[in-house]
Amino acid sequence: MRFSINGADHEIDFDIRTSLLDLLREHLQLTGTKKGCDQGACGACTVLVDGERINACLALAVQYQGRAITTIEGLGTPGHLHALQAAFVEHDGFQCGYCTPGQICSAVGMAAEARRGVPSVVTADLAATQIALDHDELRERMSGNLCRCGAHNGIIDAVRQVLA
Ligand code: FES
Repeated sequence: MRFSINGADHEIDFDIRTSLLDLLREHLQLTGTKKGCDQGACGACTVLVDGERINACLALAVQYQGRAITTIEGLGTPGHLHALQAAFVEHDGFQCGYCTPGQICSAVGMAAEARRGVPSVVTADLAATQIALDHDELRERMSGNLCRCGAHNGIIDAVRQVLA
């Protein structure tokens, strides 16, 4: 089966029951994408598919053939950080760092959702026609990504600096 991951094509044979998360980590050694809960609750496994964020642990890999999959490895490198990665460093947006790849992929997808006018709970409550990515709005939109170290304020500051 053929996959497009971080701009490169891959031909991979695997058990069709394999999740996208396991395909990335175990078949392609793209271990930047993390396995936390493995049941859709923590966001550590967030990747982008055609620019939209998904939890890779809940996705059957076979369903994503031919789609443009982007992982943290496709957003930045140690020598050339993505602007969000640099902002996370600047704002102490992590402690252990385990959730960080998922947080950053999620933020990229979140910004695209906001630009398309996809409402959050906050904006739906306000019946907002224009989305202002203020602190509360960003907290809501990033609420699917947990940080057990409690670095959420730094994470939101970093996201807000780059994307809001
Ligand atoms: Fe996928 Fe937690 S590992 S949501």
